[in-house]
Amino acid sequence: MLDRKVYIIGGGNMGASIAEGLLDDNINNSKLINIVDTDKKLKKIFIKKKLNFTTEIPKSIKDSLLIIAVKPQNFENLEKSFFPTQKNNLIISIMAGVTIKKIKSKLKTEIIVRAMPNLNSAIKKGYTVLFGNGLNKVEKKIIDYIFSTIGELSWVRNESRINLFTAITGSGPGFIFYLMEKYQVLLEKNGIDKLKAKKIVRQLFDGSIDYAKKSKKDYAVLRKNVSSKGGTTEAGCKVFDEKKFEYILEEVFHAAIDKAYELGDKK
Ligand SMILES: NC(=O)c1ccc[n+]([C@@H]2O[C@H](COP(=O)([O-])OP(=O)(O)OC[C@H]3O[C@@H](n4cnc5c(N)ncnc54)[C@H](OP(=O)(O)O)[C@@H]3O)[C@@H](O)[C@H]2O)c1
Repeated sequence: MLDRKVYIIGGGNMGASIAEGLLDDNINNSKLINIVDTDKKLKKIFIKKKLNFTTEIPKSIKDSLLIIAVKPQNFENLEKSFFPTQKNNLIISIMAGVTIKKIKSKLKTEIIVRAMPNLNSAIKKGYTVLFGNGLNKVEKKIIDYIFSTIGELSWVRNESRINLFTAITGSGPGFIFYLMEKYQVLLEKNGIDKLKAKKIVRQLFDGSIDYAKKSKKDYAVLRKNVSSKGGTTEAGCKVFDEKKFEYILEEVFHAAIDKAYELGDKK
């Protein structure tokens, strides 16, 4: 359970997912969760969930945990005076690309943690990567707790790794959906109607993931096992190799990493 007040600044997709995770883990967390969002229309939704809602951060916050969950461009526009002045608040930013240096230029605080969750957090199957220095055991424990309520997590030793994971696990669901989309397009091109094509793709991805989870073998071994010599899967995978699919993926990741840097500080 939470041991202090939590202020989630930005109650959009990700902010709401974190609040939801905490709420579902322990209903008593609701008393400690405060959503701060400029969009007044969200008030009804959060109040219904018995969470506190305000449109501005109270100036007198102390000994609390603040999660900055606004879009990077909205953070750029925030006035310094928007943030509470007390020093002993713990700050976590989930903003893609925005560096600790940049956040410190606006916030009077020593410790800032960067976290990179992903879309799947909304169904508690997320993967969050975290970076932060100078945390004591209690602070680390509370951060581990928060992100464990929306999936799995790991810590990295270097802030630059956050941008790497922003591209790989942060944007990852979008890349997987891209593959699913292309599979669907091909089925439709072959005369299968849209709804059926969608269902087939979902079953294919779902079944393959469950199979991989149950077998625990390396993905490469699974692929080899299903590719009989001279067979159809082997012929298809050969095209992946010839077209250098691995390099395409590498380029995709690099484009996303570059964008993460562009959204924050320059490299
Ligand atoms: N979505 C993802 O999968 C994902 C994954 C990893 C990290 N992130 C990061 O998470 C952050 C939030 O993303 P999101 O998808 O949740 O965005 P979102 O749905 O747009 O949510 C952001 C919310 O913050 C509100 N807001 C804007 N300015 C504010 C202010 N000054 N004070 C309080 N609230 C304010 C927005 O209101 P308005 O709509 O009225 O502007 C909106 O409700 C981003 O920085 C993103 O990089 C997102």
